[in-house]
Amino acid sequence: MSSRTDLPEESGFARRLRVAVLGASGLLGREVFTELAQDGRFDVTGTAFSRTRAGLVSLDLTDADAVEQFFDAYRPDAVVLAAAERRPDVCEKTPERAHALNVGAVGTVARIARRHGSWMLSISTDYVFDGSAAPYRPDAQPNPLNAYGRGKLEGEHALASLNPDACVLRLPLLYGPLEAIDESAATSFIPALRAASAAQPAVIDDWAIRYPTLTTDVAVVIRQLLERVIDGMPVRGIHHWSGGEAMTKYDIALALASRLSLDPTHIIAQSTPADATPRPYDCHLDSASLELHGIGQRTPFAIGLERVLEGLQQQVD
Ligand SMILES: NC(=O)c1ccc[n+]([C@@H]2O[C@H](COP(=O)([O-])OP(=O)(O)OC[C@H]3O[C@@H](n4cnc5c(N)ncnc54)[C@H](OP(=O)(O)O)[C@@H]3O)[C@@H](O)[C@H]2O)c1
Repeated sequence: MSSRTDLPEESGFARRLRVAVLGASGLLGREVFTELAQDGRFDVTGTAFSRTRAGLVSLDLTDADAVEQFFDAYRPDAVVLAAAERRPDVCEKTPERAHALNVGAVGTVARIARRHGSWMLSISTDYVFDGSAAPYRPDAQPNPLNAYGRGKLEGEHALASLNPDACVLRLPLLYGPLEAIDESAATSFIPALRAASAAQPAVIDDWAIRYPTLTTDVAVVIRQLLERVIDGMPVRGIHHWSGGEAMTKYDIALALASRLSLDPTHIIAQSTPADATPRPYDCHLDSASLELHGIGQRTPFAIGLERVLEGLQQQVD
């Protein structure tokens, strides 16, 4: 029986590593899929759920039989689970559906990946922490404040019990190339900024500290982890990756206003928490466990934002 990080005998660069990106239609999954697909060492299969399209396999991860059939058909050496319900408000309102994906599907994939000898990476969140004692190392004590964080933590526990050699990568607020403005919490308030006026300013949170992290950078981190898998090195346990710039949503709003030529005096800083769903204050993730191994890429926020907005503009043109 091979361990998670052993490659099948016929590989070791004799053939490409077969990687399945589950949730390849999402904000992060798209970038992971693109990063791996342009690298000749990987043979990538991506899955989608509602946004099926040419080049992606349709798969409902809450259907265990369908997941079994997927593994039988594609026999991945490695699987990156990027599918989730990541909207905290939706997790509060429809907990069963969120649980089926953020906990149930993690367990299903973990169990089947283990049986197939596939290395597994599951994406989690900084929201497993309560935000009162940043920065957080991977071994810090979680204490989620909302249903999303609790579900993701439960998913981590399911993974650890069913597939102890698997890996978790916790991430903070993501932004990156967009299919829609509301795909990222770093851009979802653009319509409110555009609609703001002196009479009706946009009130934006200036309390919680966030570390916006570019999906393109995370995709590089995941590719680098997979390179270690190819080299037969152990890649397991919990790791963190984070952008390096501390920003509130108000800071992000000012950056957006500057780039989009909107009047910043129409944006008001909200200095106390006002979200319906409780959110942590500062969950800065200490990324040292990856940096020590030379893993990582950080694009400055100003450059990342420019690329994202250019991409949006091209969609409009
Ligand atoms: N976005 C953030 O700011 C953020 C921050 C920290 C951590 N994370 C974590 O990062 C990971 C990726 O998040 P994201 O922002 O890329 O999410 P996303 O854009 O909402 O994408 C979610 C993905 O899950 C797929 N999916 C939904 N229901 C499914 C089902 N029943 N079966 C199979 N696939 C299903 C979606 O497919 P369709 O679109 O085709 O339906 C999509 O590919 C998640 O684990 C999330 O918790 C995200």
